[in-house]
Amino acid sequence: MVKTALITGITGQDGAYLAELLLDKGYSVHGVRQPVAVPDLGRLKTLLGSRFDEIDLHYGDLHDAASLIRLLKQVQPDEIYNLAAQSHVHVSFDVPDQTLQVNAAGALRLLEAMRLLGVGEKTRLFQASTSELFGAAPPPQTEETPMQPRSPYAAAKLYAYNLVRIYREAYGFHASNGIMFNHESPLRGEEFVTRKIALAVAQIVAGNQDVLLLGNLDAHRDWSHARDIMQAAWLMLQKHNPDDYILSSGQAYSVREFATEAFAMAGMPITWHGDGLQETGVDPRTGRTVVRIDPALFRPLEVEALLGNAAKARSQLGWSATTPFPAIVRELIRSELEDAASPVSNTAEKLYG
Ligand code: NAP
Ligand code: GDD
Repeated sequence: MVKTALITGITGQDGAYLAELLLDKGYSVHGVRQPVAVPDLGRLKTLLGSRFDEIDLHYGDLHDAASLIRLLKQVQPDEIYNLAAQSHVHVSFDVPDQTLQVNAAGALRLLEAMRLLGVGEKTRLFQASTSELFGAAPPPQTEETPMQPRSPYAAAKLYAYNLVRIYREAYGFHASNGIMFNHESPLRGEEFVTRKIALAVAQIVAGNQDVLLLGNLDAHRDWSHARDIMQAAWLMLQKHNPDDYILSSGQAYSVREFATEAFAMAGMPITWHGDGLQETGVDPRTGRTVVRIDPALFRPLEVEALLGNAAKARSQLGWSATTPFPAIVRELIRSELEDAASPVSNTAEKLYG
């Protein structure tokens, strides 16, 4: 029997990879798109090509409870993946209310829509939770690590995380939290550090940009590939019992290490000089400074170190991340070097499909 899935946030990075995975598995895939005048369907079209037409897109918004009820009635999904969010941690300090409305109240509206329609036990829900919930808790983090959020983004996501557990226990919902550590790809938003670095490195190597500005180089993140993490999201919903799982690679690297690797892979190895705000990344062959620190890019509060222990997902789902750190960096760099070689056509392709 063909299963039906509904994905909120289908136009984002994870939405594209999940749509690809579910189409490959023969699902009928439905996605929620926000009602905006200039649609951002570039990721889906880039990844899916002609298979883009196999997806059913519906207008809806996590601010709008009625739109969610209408969609659940119309689509009648077997599985719901709630990926929609204001997902940028730094930006959440500027728009905390909007972040709350989408990341916390949005999840509540979806859960209530399921409850009102009486589908919580039959329809399985994946909630995109995050390693940001751990905040100040020292690594390594497991499902048992106390959560100490350090941003409006993480505080809102913690509310949604708790609601999923509450609806599971109170009403028997098949609802699960994927506690996802950072995951990346060439489809990552340009404001996130990995894609920002890859874009800048390609432009610097091509001679189109002078310098890459970064904030905290010492932050450590546990980076996986988005395709691997979406595979785990799907596996979670195939389990008879709903549960919460850490989804991570188990390896952490600093932002400085990511940048070092990215420049090296683009054929411009760099060396680091100085400390704190004066630290620079230099191309030793020319003496040119190609990385500088911009204090504006520091956050009001930082999450210094994330490193997940995914032992539970390994033993219960048979899942582990398959893409090592150098392969992730290489894929991002290759993609940007190709784009830098023909910037106009590729940008247009990504924006307008
Ligand atoms: P993303 O690229 O920023 O995508 C976010 C998606 O949410 C976009 O499709 C966006 O639509 C949609 N959206 C935003 N506000 C909405 C609203 N009010 N109603 C409906 N849709 C709305 O994020 P991502 O990297 O794919 O991440 C997916 C989810 O996983 C997010 O919830 C994120 O917080 C969480 N997460 C991500 C990571 C990671 O490393 N990527 C790690 C942990 C957790 P538009 O395209 O129209 O803006
Ligand atoms: N974005 C950005 N831009 N981050 C920078 C920069 C910069 O110029 N310079 C240093 N950083 C540091 C940030 O301070 C942070 O410590 C780290 O790089 C990673 O930043 P992001 O790539 O923006 O990701 P994030 O870890 O804050 O959040 C992502 O991962 C979370 C899971 O841990 C997002 O995808 C969240 O939605 C997700 O929940």
